Amino acid sequence: MSRYEEVKSELQSHPKTWLITGVAGFIGSNLLETLLKLKQKVVGLDNFSTGHQHNLDEVKSLVSEELWENFSFIEGDIRDYSACTNAVKGVDYILHQAALGSVPRSIADPITTNAANITGFLNMLNAAKDESVTSFTYAASSSTYGDHPALPKVEENIGNPLSPYAVTKYVNELYASVFARTYGFKSIGLRYFNVFGKRQDPNGAYAAVIPKWTSAMIKGEDVFINGDGETSRDFCFIDNVVQMNILAATAKNEAKNEIYNVAVSDRTTLNDLYEAIVEGLSKSEVQITAKPIYREFRAGDVRHSQADISKAVSLLSYEHPVNLRDGILYAVDWYINSIDND
Ligand SMILES: NC(=O)c1ccc[n+]([C@@H]2O[C@H](COP(=O)([O-])OP(=O)(O)OC[C@H]3O[C@@H](n4cnc5c(N)ncnc54)[C@H](O)[C@@H]3O)[C@@H](O)[C@H]2O)c1
Repeated sequence: MSRYEEVKSELQSHPKTWLITGVAGFIGSNLLETLLKLKQKVVGLDNFSTGHQHNLDEVKSLVSEELWENFSFIEGDIRDYSACTNAVKGVDYILHQAALGSVPRSIADPITTNAANITGFLNMLNAAKDESVTSFTYAASSSTYGDHPALPKVEENIGNPLSPYAVTKYVNELYASVFARTYGFKSIGLRYFNVFGKRQDPNGAYAAVIPKWTSAMIKGEDVFINGDGETSRDFCFIDNVVQMNILAATAKNEAKNEIYNVAVSDRTTLNDLYEAIVEGLSKSEVQITAKPIYREFRAGDVRHSQADISKAVSLLSYEHPVNLRDGILYAVDWYINSIDND
């Protein structure tokens, strides 16, 4: 049996109490769904700044009434320290996801991004330390690699940050490391690479590329590619992120106070991504004939990104990540159903 299967079975027989910050968001709501299905008790904290009640409602519709009773929700803001101390009470494991995502949002408004991503992070980390929780796992980001040219990206080699968002995520790592050194409070940072899957918001100026394009194609709207389309990313399906959070939260002490890449270790260009979505939609009988429209490169974007995942494999027993083409089929299916139901 794999370590992931072992951990899940152990959790089912000895349920724990988890706190998910950002629970109404894309990644948070997927973590919630998996943990409730594993019979865990979950406390969720969110201020609905980019998350939605409909994400929580969808999870509720996917689990039994009995399992849903294991969930308690706190509407609150991580910038408010008392909301953090209140949320961590009696919790075993924390999965800290709440933050303002998006490089362009941080360029448009660095102050608000800083408050949520740095002050909010420090509030959560300090509250978690004072509560002596068993583990604190947080959402770091591949944007921390910045302008470092090497591929694939190895955790210890980072460059200069290219956006305010990247600065905030790097500062999270610095605080986490200082908390380990000065207070002996060890956490785990997961550097997510372009995550995608169900419940990722397709709307708004700061939507990520896969939901934005998929939704536009379903609605027959134009799809824009920034730059020449040869920009590449290591697109990571949501199930891989859920697996890594559960492995990290339950990791042994030797695997703590570390940063891990969370990805597939593959690289797909935007042009190939476009084709993969068209193909995914055609399998669901949505035929796309329109061509994408090319426009300027976007400020703050790195050109290529691909992760080395060997550290996650060796220290956390991360295994069988779902690849882009398989993940796209699930994601596309969800967008077709949810956009039809709008
Ligand atoms: N999606 C990706 O590709 C990706 C990549 C790298 C890192 N991340 C990180 O993963 C985490 C989750 O991202 P996501 O894609 O699910 O985004 P999301 O916007 O769907 O979820 C973030 C959630 O945090 C909540 N939130 C934001 N500020 C808050 C505050 N001050 N107080 C309380 N709640 C607050 C939002 O309402 C939302 O529900 C974030 O930390 C993000 O930076 C995501």
